Amino acid sequence: MPLKSDSEIEALVPLFEYLESLTGRASIADLDRAMRSIDVTVEDLAEHIRYCDEHYKRNLIREGRWYQAYALCWKSGQRSPIHDHTNTTCGVRVLAGRGVETIYEPSPCGQMMAVQSRPLNVGDICASQDSDTHQISNLQPAGQNLITLHIYSPPLREFHTYSATDGTVNRVRDVGNGCCEVVETMDIAEFMKR
Ligand SMILES: [Fe+2]
Repeated sequence: MPLKSDSEIEALVPLFEYLESLTGRASIADLDRAMRSIDVTVEDLAEHIRYCDEHYKRNLIREGRWYQAYALCWKSGQRSPIHDHTNTTCGVRVLAGRGVETIYEPSPCGQMMAVQSRPLNVGDICASQDSDTHQISNLQPAGQNLITLHIYSPPLREFHTYSATDGTVNRVRDVGNGCCEVVETMDIAEFMKR
């Protein structure tokens, strides 16, 4: 159900029509296609653009039975944790600025290892699901912001964040209002056995 008067965001109408038509989780191919097909700019989402000095800010645009749509706002130097997408399909489209996506995999010693980084320019899409593990960062010079549109299907209620340095994993729960809390911390080795 809409949280805001987002019916006025004309550019997102085709995307929300697709998301409202879902009767189950979106496939990564369909979500990628739907996010690629819209013609959206940062001006379209002006009412949802809010920043935080301490960390990147997740601004909920709209939520339905099978999806959430967020505008994420990143100041220079702000980064997501290394995280997966437990039981969820996630699509990201860059609306302003230049981001970096870094992909991680478990290393032989159990800690996470960066295996690839790539720039995310305006209009670029990156799609992830389930155990796909990555980090998104704004590494532009001071004063240069990054804005990204994120769709999760179904809504992302719980996922995992991974330490880059000590081999631990946090199970994290979305507690609403764009905020999350850690509910469990474990070793990666223990987590991989589950
Ligand atoms: Fe992600």
